[in-house]
Order: sequence, then structure tokens, then C-alpha cells
Amino acid sequence: METKSQFKDKSVWRKKPMYLFEQDIQKSELKRVLGKWSLTAIGIGAIIGGGIFVLTGTAAHYHAGPALALSFVIAGIGCIFAALCYGEFAAMLPVEGSAYAYAYGTIGELFAWAIGWGLILEYAMGAMTVAVSWSGYFNKLVHLFGIDIPFWLRNDPVSAANYAQLNGLPDPGFALNLPAFLIVWLVTYILIKGIKEAANTNNIIVVLKVAAVIFVILVGVFYVRAANWEPFIPAPELIPGEDGKPHEAYGWGGIVSGASAIFFAYIGFDAVSTQAGEAINPRKDMPFAIITSLLVCTVLYILVSLVLTGMINYKDIVGDALKAPVAYAFDAVGQGWAVFIITAAATVGLISVMLVMMLGQTRVFLGMAKDGLLPGFFREIHPTFKTPWKSTLLVGTVVSTIAAFTPISVLGDMTSFGTLFAFAMVCLAVWILRRRDPDRERPFRAPALNIIAPLGIIVNTILILNLSGLAQKLALVWLILGMVVYFLYGRRHSKLNDL
Ligand code: ALA
Repeated sequence: METKSQFKDKSVWRKKPMYLFEQDIQKSELKRVLGKWSLTAIGIGAIIGGGIFVLTGTAAHYHAGPALALSFVIAGIGCIFAALCYGEFAAMLPVEGSAYAYAYGTIGELFAWAIGWGLILEYAMGAMTVAVSWSGYFNKLVHLFGIDIPFWLRNDPVSAANYAQLNGLPDPGFALNLPAFLIVWLVTYILIKGIKEAANTNNIIVVLKVAAVIFVILVGVFYVRAANWEPFIPAPELIPGEDGKPHEAYGWGGIVSGASAIFFAYIGFDAVSTQAGEAINPRKDMPFAIITSLLVCTVLYILVSLVLTGMINYKDIVGDALKAPVAYAFDAVGQGWAVFIITAAATVGLISVMLVMMLGQTRVFLGMAKDGLLPGFFREIHPTFKTPWKSTLLVGTVVSTIAAFTPISVLGDMTSFGTLFAFAMVCLAVWILRRRDPDRERPFRAPALNIIAPLGIIVNTILILNLSGLAQKLALVWLILGMVVYFLYGRRHSKLNDL
């Protein structure tokens, strides 16, 4: 039996006692409206986005060649290990904070804070980069209808100045990415209105985008030429990398670095775990939704990558084709009309990615604010809509402003860093808790945990080490900044000080 006096720990390793998590679950003010399929759709809504339509080209050309499907298998395995661990935790501790909360109960406050801080990279920064990609797809879509938005209204000031210079145009003086700005506000509005509204919007989008991915597979398969898969794993070769510098591509090394390159496409299933406070039956449905959404997307991704590398030769994916490889593949086989479907699907599909990422961000903040590590502002729930509206407004303001005014998209790898970091930590935390508290009730038990937890930590760490050097450095700076905020604010205001 846990007693208060047991928790007089003042160190940065102090842990949140389990009885406090149970109190949080009982006192939750959020509306419990999400059933098992809505939760699964939230996972798929966040996972399928620009990643599959864009990164596949870079990963095939610069890293894996036709063995791109194996890169998807490797990244998928890292994700499945993490998903099983997330499932065990989400069923046991169905609270909004997700990975942050799990670490708080097992490893300690400082670590939990670092994970919560790292999740900002995944969710808020992820939403910013996705908003910028959305704007790209939207511009392409309206262009198909003969409408062109002026370049200074569809680019941040830095990208607009570059564009002007490249095209011999005068510097516009002022520029913003208006479509990115507006879409974030639309998403913010839906999120404040209510979780049911957000889930319904997400459900519709998920049906459309899964249909589009299945379309790519079913139509594309008719244009596959087996010769494009030969050799399936090309011999390692020194080729000019994305930065122009020589790098070793292909072979097994290329398959692994390809896995890091496409990892972004998998990000999102873990966001399901931030919905625990809104799930009708979290103990049963969270593990189901996390694992099912990931499995569905893994199968679809492997099939898309096989079809893509079968339709066009990976060596031919260069120049503009790298920006939209799937659309390019259809164009190359004389099916240009498919470009319209793919562009429309991505434009609509990315809305739900932003929706779930911003939803996840506000719920992680809610969990941290309940523990006193963030100000009370982040836990204020709207009396009618039952959503954390102030926090949602703040997230909307920050995400829309950065997406509109900075060249954020170059930092997409930082989103992968924040996610992989959380994945590795969740594997560690679930493993620790199994050993420390083996008799605790576990509605879902990750199978063979002694194998999958360490493997999850290893695979996800290897993927972190394969991310771009710049992203690694910037993410470390971000984590150090987080430490400063923790010591200046979080530690002093932690509710554990009152025990
Ligand atoms: N997995 C999401 C995407 O690919 C983030 O857009």
C-alpha cells in the first residue's frame, strides 16, 4: 500500500505515486466519447500524411533503392515494439500525458519533463512542418485548377526572398505563408469546438485518405515492371547525397539509413495514447487502437513502396520527382490524371495529421499542468466544449505564426528526434515498471517484454543516430533549454512538493 510519507523525495528523480494517477483518472473533466474505432481512426489520421507521398522518393534514390520496402519493415518493427509498450502503459495508466506521464511514474520527474519537452518537437513542431507541407499541396491543387497564389502569399519571408532571387523578381519586402496560417486556425477552431467534432472530422478524412492509398496500390500494381526491382538490394555505392557530398548508399546500410529517412511517415500512432482522458473504455481500447492503426499503416506503406519502386527505377527519381515521387511515378507511366487524386488526397489527408498532432500537444500540456510542472493556464477546460481551450488557442497561435513566417520545413527531422526519443523512453519505462511492480494490474501485457523492450530501445536509438546531424544538434539544444525551464519553473511548482 502506498503512503504519503513514502514520497517525501525532493530529488529530480522523484516519481509520481500511482495513487495520484488514479485520482487524476477519476477527476478528469474531459468528455469520454471516443470508442475503439474512433481511437483507431485517430491513429491512422495522424500516421498517413505527407510522409508516404514524399519521403519514399528520397529514401529510394539516396538510401535503399528497391529495398525501400525493407526500410519500411525496419522502421515498422521499431514502431511495433514501441506500440506494444505504449499499449501496456496506456491501458494501465490511461492519463492524457502519455509518454511523459509513464516516465513520471517510473523513471522520475526530470526525465519525465525531458520527455514532455521532447514531445513538443513531435507534436507542435510536427504540426508546423505539416502545415507548411499542406500549403505546398494546396498550392499545387489550386494550380491544377488554374489558380496561382502569389509567391509572397504562399512562402515564409526567407523562402519568398530566395524564390524572388532565383526567378529574377524584386524582393517582395513582406511575405507570409497564408494557406499554412489559415489551415492551422481552422484546425484550432475544430479542436476547441469539441472532441466529438474533431473525431468526426478525422473519421471522414481517414476514410478518404485510406481510399487514396489503396487506389495508388491497386492501380499502380498494373504498371509494375519486375526489372525495376532487380537487384532488389543494390550493392553499396558511393553517390552524391542530398547535400551534394558523397555518401554511401544502398546495401544493408542504405536500408537502415532509409528507415530513418522515412520514419516521419510512421509518426502519429502514439498520439492515440494522449486521448486516454477522452476514451470511453481506455483500458481495453487504447492498446487495440495504437496497435491496429500502426499495423494497418505498416501494411499499406510496404505495399506502396513496393509499387512505387516497381513503377519507376529508383535511379530515375531525381529533381522535381523527389518532391512528389508517387505522383511522378503515375505521370511517368502515362497516368497523369492520378496526380489530381494524389494531390487532393494529400491536401485533405494532412488536415487530420495536424488535427491529431495539435490535439496530442494540448493533452500532453494538460497532463503536465495537472502535475504543476506547467502553469494552470494549460489545464483550464471550457465549461461548454469540455476542451482545454486556452491551451489550444496558444498552440494554434504559436503553430500558425511559425508555420507562416519561418522556413520550418527544413527542420522536419527534429520531429522524428522528439518521437524516437519518446519511443525509446517508453520502452525503458514499461520495462522498469514490470520489474519494479510485477503484480500491478495490467489490462494489456506487451508480449516477450524482456526482448521487445531492449530491442525497442536499441532500434529507436539507432534511428536517432541516423538522423541529420543538424537535427540532432538542434534537438539537443532544445532539450538543454528544457532543463533550464525545468529548474526555473517546473521543479519549483511541482505538485510533488506538497506531498
Ligand atoms: N506521419 C505523418 C506524415 O507522414 C506525420 O505526415
